[in-house]
Amino acid sequence: MASSSSLPPRHTLLLPVDRPQSLAQAARQLAEGGLVAFPTETVYGLGADAARPQAVADLYAAKGRPAFNPLIAHVHDTAAALRLGHFNPAAQRLAERFWPGPLTLVVPYAGGAAVCDLARAGLDTVAVRVPAHGDALALLAAFGGAVVAPSANRSGHVSPTTAAHVMGDLAGRIDAVLDGGPTPVGVESTILDLTGDAPVLLRPGGLAREEIEAALGVPLAGAAADDAARPLAPGRLASHYAPRAVLRLDADRVLPGEGLLTFAGARPPGAQDAAQVLDLSPAGDLTEAAARLYGALRSLDASGCPSIAVVRLPRTGLGEAIADRLARAAAPRPEREIPT
Ligand code: TXA
Ligand code: MG
Repeated sequence: MASSSSLPPRHTLLLPVDRPQSLAQAARQLAEGGLVAFPTETVYGLGADAARPQAVADLYAAKGRPAFNPLIAHVHDTAAALRLGHFNPAAQRLAERFWPGPLTLVVPYAGGAAVCDLARAGLDTVAVRVPAHGDALALLAAFGGAVVAPSANRSGHVSPTTAAHVMGDLAGRIDAVLDGGPTPVGVESTILDLTGDAPVLLRPGGLAREEIEAALGVPLAGAAADDAARPLAPGRLASHYAPRAVLRLDADRVLPGEGLLTFAGARPPGAQDAAQVLDLSPAGDLTEAAARLYGALRSLDASGCPSIAVVRLPRTGLGEAIADRLARAAAPRPEREIPT
């Protein structure tokens, strides 16, 4: 992991979005090559001008990514997205149907300087999305160009769903955080690869597979098994979303002193002796559970319990993304041998 000492300290402004000058200030910071975190409907992103290699290099350094990992270009409408890449008919249909929304499309890059090589990690493809969040769209419109934005956390940490989470991870390393309150979806966007004949699901996320399949009229191929040598979407690597505590998935009982992460009111045997109990959705709503997932992991982690028992959640709808993130959070961490 990049050492924090190599990074010159920055003063991090917290900009409440309801203050009139905040958006203009955030857009100006981006235009000057600064790093600005902002809310999207999924999680907070750490934005930089996609066209400026130096800003993108600073972004990687601020996150402490062990190596370059391609970033998602965010734009304020579909017309702007269509200029960045070559959209085949399926990609066009998905863009029309789901943007703005928690869907990222990987398409062949159109060329030009709008998304610099470094932001694409040298690939001839580009990942694009139009976020469904008023503050994000206002910022993108005010800035005017494409903004690359990974989740606004230190590499290997849990993605932030509030401005306070972002400050906790990145204060002193970035220029500003636009505070627009908690993010509604709570897990990252679904990523589809549309560079081949058939769309491939690279990362399950905030848009459920079922909705995409209904729009396309065909089942989605899953991602190829993770290939450590050349991951399709490096964010899919094991132990990317990592709390400190050990996670025990599909737990059917709770060990004394463990935290319990549960769903729909389930209380497995031993729950009465749990150090802390968090129910992602007492009503059994997977969308609500996704929105609360990262906050719950942070709060159980902060309670200091050495391990967290996690009940099995349904795998339908957003349950697929939740299961994916939990599996990654639970994966063993061989001292973080993440090749990206
Ligand atoms: O919801 C989200 O997608 C959030 C918000 C801020 O928009 N962003 C986010 O970015 O999750 P990040 O950097 O944490 O994850 C982006 C993922 C990475 O796994 C990256 O490898 C993959 O997208 N990716 C980016 N460009 C790609 C490309 N050309 N081909 C394949 N995968 C790509
Ligand atoms: Mg991330």
